[in-house]
Amino acid sequence: MYYLKHRPKTIEDLDNQKVKEIVKKILESKKIPHALLFIGQKGTGKTSTARIISKALNCSSSKDTEPCNKCKNCLAVDSFSSPDIIELDAASNRGIEDIKNLIRESNFYPMNNRYRIFIIDEAQMITSDAFNALLKTLEEPPESVIFILATTNPEKIPKTIQSRCSVINFAKAKKTEIISMLKKIAHREKLKIDEKLLELISEHSDHSFRDAAKILEELVVQEKLTYEEGIKFLGLLRENFLSLLINKKPDEIFTWIEEFNRSGGNFKNLIEKLLDELRILLLANNGIKSDEFTAQAKISTENIVLLMKLLTEAYKNLKITPIESLPLEIAVVEFYNSRNSKS
Ligand SMILES: Nc1ncnc2c1ncn2[C@@H]1O[C@H](COP(=O)(O)OP(=O)(O)O)[C@@H](O)[C@H]1O
Ligand SMILES: [Mg+2]
Ligand SMILES: [Zn+2]
Repeated sequence: MYYLKHRPKTIEDLDNQKVKEIVKKILESKKIPHALLFIGQKGTGKTSTARIISKALNCSSSKDTEPCNKCKNCLAVDSFSSPDIIELDAASNRGIEDIKNLIRESNFYPMNNRYRIFIIDEAQMITSDAFNALLKTLEEPPESVIFILATTNPEKIPKTIQSRCSVINFAKAKKTEIISMLKKIAHREKLKIDEKLLELISEHSDHSFRDAAKILEELVVQEKLTYEEGIKFLGLLRENFLSLLINKKPDEIFTWIEEFNRSGGNFKNLIEKLLDELRILLLANNGIKSDEFTAQAKISTENIVLLMKLLTEAYKNLKITPIESLPLEIAVVEFYNSRNSKS
């Protein structure tokens, strides 16, 4: 999978500019913090960065701050076989016993490396007892130990813990940063791909590097590497399907679905996108504004809910239908029928 295969392995390779600068500074300084807290939503590079730091600090052949990615210490990190780089998922190891084990482990000297590094993912899941136990160790960590805590939910990390850590904020990935990552992958994979399509992917990846890499891979698998094909695949169309639907134009709607189907459009993505837009309309109708989507359509809350129900049903039926377009067509017919019977 692209997002694993093309995980950044050097600081230079990180497309998140701010993080890149901070990490460089930390590694250049003589004083390495013994507790780091990485904050950021999924797919922003927390795990990748933790591994790069682990390698850089323990690399046996590098002369500057970058890891060489070739020596035995570096390779051991990549293959999860390093005795000194311990990755722990707090989602499943969150209790006091798990953390006590980890603290015990942290008292040993590194086996092959300069530092023992504990990377704790989803750190917000740690129980409060366990956090308390950890706090003491974070106050006076052994000389050769570094803790890297990563979290998507900083408000669930006790202030006392936060204050012991050097915090790095992994901001949502910018469009330009995502495009830069996508270009690297395209180059390495020797893809011929529209530049405009890369922009489109970056706009629809929820500011996550991982999501962007996944979308690119899906487009490659489906051989849809032009802008036009990408638009269809992502279920984004210039003539807005939803406004046709709301403006009661059944014939145009069916022609549209037919055309979408013929050109290999993906109904799953289309319905997901429609539900997204409807949700934003629903919020807008109830006074919650969003800058993602200007609610231009006039549709009652009642009709939004009706459409959402019908589309959710259609979405479920996609798994069992022999004709891909059918569930959506049924939803459209039912929508018109129940609207007409009421008005
Ligand atoms: N800064 C970055 N530059 C380039 N690609 C990135 C970056 N951060 C993440 N990625 C891509 O996203 C994938 C997931 O990143 P990861 O470090 O696991 O994110 P997190 O731990 O924050 O969820 C990586 O394997 C890589 O493909
Ligand atoms: Mg991670
Ligand atoms: Zn190395």
